[in-house]
Amino acid sequence: MNETEATPKNIVLIGFMGCGKSTVGRELHQRLGYRLMDIDQIIEETMGKRITEIFREQGESAFRDFETIQLQEISKQTDTRHIISTGGGIVIRPENRALLRKLGYVVWLRAPENIIYERTSRNRDRPLLNAPNAREKISDLLAEREPWYRETAHLRVDTAGLESHELATGILESARYFFAHPA
Ligand code: S3P
Repeated sequence: MNETEATPKNIVLIGFMGCGKSTVGRELHQRLGYRLMDIDQIIEETMGKRITEIFREQGESAFRDFETIQLQEISKQTDTRHIISTGGGIVIRPENRALLRKLGYVVWLRAPENIIYERTSRNRDRPLLNAPNAREKISDLLAEREPWYRETAHLRVDTAGLESHELATGILESARYFFAHPA
């Protein structure tokens, strides 16, 4: 069995913080009626804590464990047709990258560094960027993670200048093609 034939009909959104995964995820959910699963939100609900608290009290590595556990849980589900929105660091672990690919059609949302900085500096709910050198941190993390996003994604989408409904239209067309034409 090749990879595409085995791929469930989920759309998985990956990409750096501030690239619009949650907004595009909501748009896709509204358009398709697929259930929206936001891994960060599921972790917060399961743990009864905000992500900032999890990082502060248990550390980043514990948070990464929760991400892997949630991906494993979703992989076990027999019903598909979900929009799965992920946190920007989910691609750090090789096992997560493999799980993401198996979960469905993986879409990598990208945005220019200055837009990421502008969007993420509006609030303080991203523990990795709560630092005086946030701009440098974004630059370093992006350089580190880009190869992992590239390796994991079936589709790369440059979001600059496009509205979420335009992005959703493009993603939907590509996903339909992908699911209808297994390689
Ligand atoms: C993180 C991204 C966040 C959240 C956590 C860590 C990261 O999600 O999972 O703060 O390592 O890039 P968003 O990408 O939705 O902001």
